[in-house]
Amino acid sequence: MFDSIAIVGATGAVGRLIRQMLEERDFPYEKITFLASKRSAGSTITFKGQEHTVQELTPESFQGIDLAIGSTPDDTAAEFVPWAKAAGCVVVDESGYWRMDPTVPLVVPEVNPEAIRDHQGVISSPNCSTTQMVVAMKPLHDAGRIRRVVVSTYQATSGAGVKGQQDLTEGSRAALDNSDYKYEAFKYPIAFNLIPQIGGPKHEGYTSEEMKMVHETHKIFADDTIRVCPTCVRVPVVNCHSETMLVETEKKITVAEARELFANFPGIKLIDDLDSGQYPMPSDCDGDDAVFIGRIREDLSSDNGLTFWCVSDNLRKGAATNAVQIAELLVKSAATAS
Ligand SMILES: NC(=O)c1ccc[n+]([C@@H]2O[C@H](COP(=O)([O-])OP(=O)(O)OC[C@H]3O[C@@H](n4cnc5c(N)ncnc54)[C@H](OP(=O)(O)O)[C@@H]3O)[C@@H](O)[C@H]2O)c1
Repeated sequence: MFDSIAIVGATGAVGRLIRQMLEERDFPYEKITFLASKRSAGSTITFKGQEHTVQELTPESFQGIDLAIGSTPDDTAAEFVPWAKAAGCVVVDESGYWRMDPTVPLVVPEVNPEAIRDHQGVISSPNCSTTQMVVAMKPLHDAGRIRRVVVSTYQATSGAGVKGQQDLTEGSRAALDNSDYKYEAFKYPIAFNLIPQIGGPKHEGYTSEEMKMVHETHKIFADDTIRVCPTCVRVPVVNCHSETMLVETEKKITVAEARELFANFPGIKLIDDLDSGQYPMPSDCDGDDAVFIGRIREDLSSDNGLTFWCVSDNLRKGAATNAVQIAELLVKSAATAS
């Protein structure tokens, strides 16, 4: 058990959910500290019925803290993680900054829990669009070895934080009222629109979000030969990312076998009955920790291909739940070691 824990970025979209997760899952600790920027320092958070004052993140913040769960922008994580490590505090980090560092395990507990063994004070949680994809890939990979994935994402505005959520609600209201709204998280209006760019230009026409899905998948499966072709699109949905996935395996997996594999995999919920119109939708998956799968069918354009639809709450399994599950693995491994 960690006596003293901190949430860094406690006031953000993911930070709020981390607080909720710690409470829901009854995460063990003695003392908790909430850290954020100067902007929110002094504001109060009610947690487990008690009021806590948000403190400004500074180099001294980690004295006496054993575990920090961070969900801040990348540049903030780049700065605070070394402060935490120097104070002997272990960090589970949600940001993109440390994920591809070779000394930092990138962990999804249903997929590669063993990777936490090698941590040197920091463990990263993947990008939300990667997390749900690798959970969906894992049972198929174990059964038939995945060689190729073509994935298109339909990503909710909450993936861009509190300002992203606000842009959708305020921007929609303004569009209906015929009034002006200045978008903060998005370059173009997201109300009644789709934006086929998430992140900046990164590699031969792919965006940084798309290349995260390639590199993070390779790291999590420790296999650079899996070919991943992503297209990431922002859609006017408040919460829950959806993905269409086409997966080609070395050994053929039938639709019936895939259904059974998904149904028996921890963390996956199967809703798959096109005849009665049953499939997962963001509005149904909001607030659930699972990765939902439906619309499973054979790929008509290849021999060993399956295609399906995958939805998950990006703030939960895509972020907060995964981070808290990593922290729970740390607690368990500390208990086993002692
Ligand atoms: N949203 C998702 O679905 C999702 C999924 C996976 C990973 N992530 C990653 O998680 C991180 C947080 O995302 P989010 O969506 O929660 O963003 P957000 O809503 O914008 O929240 C950002 C948090 O970081 C804090 N912060 C910003 N600058 C800071 C600074 N200089 N010093 C200390 N704290 C600072 C903010 O505090 P103030 O309130 O004081 O500004 C806030 O608590 C990002 O790295 C994101 O890429 C997000």
